[in-house]
Amino acid sequence: MKIQGALLWEPGTKSGWTVEEIELDPPKRGEATVKLAASGICHSDDHLDTGDIPLDWAPVLGGHEGAGVVTEVGEGVEGIEVGDHVVLSFLPSCGKCPMCVSGRANMCDLGAGVLAGTSPDGTHRIHARGKGIGAMSYLGTFAPYVTVPTNALVKIDKDIPLKSAALIGCGVPTGWGSSVRAAGMELGDTVVVIGTGGVGMNAVQGARQKGAKNLIAVEPVEFKRDLAKQLGATHSAADFAEAAELVAGMTNGQGADVVIITVGVLTPEILQPAQEMTKRGGTIVVTSAAPVTQRDIQLDLYTFAMSGKRIQGTLYGTTNAQIDIPLIADLYRRGEHKLDELITKEYKLEDINTAFQDMREGKNVRGVIVYED
Ligand SMILES: NC(=O)c1ccc[n+]([C@@H]2O[C@H](COP(=O)([O-])OP(=O)(O)OC[C@H]3O[C@@H](n4cnc5c(N)ncnc54)[C@H](O)[C@@H]3O)[C@@H](O)[C@H]2O)c1
Ligand SMILES: [Zn+2]
Ligand SMILES: [Zn+2]
Repeated sequence: MKIQGALLWEPGTKSGWTVEEIELDPPKRGEATVKLAASGICHSDDHLDTGDIPLDWAPVLGGHEGAGVVTEVGEGVEGIEVGDHVVLSFLPSCGKCPMCVSGRANMCDLGAGVLAGTSPDGTHRIHARGKGIGAMSYLGTFAPYVTVPTNALVKIDKDIPLKSAALIGCGVPTGWGSSVRAAGMELGDTVVVIGTGGVGMNAVQGARQKGAKNLIAVEPVEFKRDLAKQLGATHSAADFAEAAELVAGMTNGQGADVVIITVGVLTPEILQPAQEMTKRGGTIVVTSAAPVTQRDIQLDLYTFAMSGKRIQGTLYGTTNAQIDIPLIADLYRRGEHKLDELITKEYKLEDINTAFQDMREGKNVRGVIVYED
């Protein structure tokens, strides 16, 4: 079918997104076509434009955070039917590889190909200007329909609004899981979340659900600090110095049990102030993406070792999409996990460059592209 899609023809050059006609193929074996309700604007797509995440192929259809209704299924598909409501997981899970069978589906072998520029079988489902087009994370949610591997689809109940559910494709489980799954948090912990955007706001909510005693949101943008407090942060700080003073005051100088880094771009100077806020034996969770070529970090390694601290990386918040996406949808239904409050502004696809500009300027917790019914 012919639809509109937002493409990067020159990734890594900050040239922005071109909205134009693309041709989307019907599903092949093991695939389904989904009519999307909405797509979130996640910072990770911007990394493709800035070159923080370099691609050696182009063009790319962006977008990896969406939800919608299945309109067609390919051969051999089991467990997914036309009419099902689904969230698109930005990482597929095959259910069979060693990582999947040991309960670590976020690190499924299939993840190796999500930035390879083709569908898992090496061919293209999307075409434009006579070229095969790769999609971000096998998905490409910057178009109103996607044809994707069904192992990236997670069914949700039909009473969950799809626009809100779109956020559960990436930012929500990534942030929530950073607290709930990756941090090794315990009831009564003091937790610091650095950067409360689309990901970090969910780390705040996850930490609240897991029983944080003190929960500090560090965020330069005032309205995001205010929202973080509405969503469960007990305190907020505009910068590291203010946060460090707060943490020292509430922990008798001991430091936080858990510090979670969810800033937009991970830069080398962030780890040291994060470690200074972390108590002996505590954990620093690194969720943010750094530029792929970044090798050096600034860290007092002596103190790091001698105080027995842990730096824990996390992919997709260490969640298991098939379990955690329906769980978060249920928490949303019960009012425990807020999603609607995270959507600051809605955009049409043709305004996608404005949406990214607004994200860079700190105007949005999440911008969302909404597709017509
Ligand atoms: N690990 C994963 O699996 C995974 C998945 C999704 C996204 N990510 C990454 O997570 C990061 C966050 O993504 P997002 O979509 O929430 O971005 P975002 O731009 O919506 O939010 C980032 C927030 O950090 C704040 N910030 C920037 N510098 C700061 C600083 N020095 N101190 C405190 N706050 C600061 C910004 O004001 C903003 O509110 C990105 O790097 C993204 O690529 C990682
Ligand atoms: Zn994302
Ligand atoms: Zn697998």
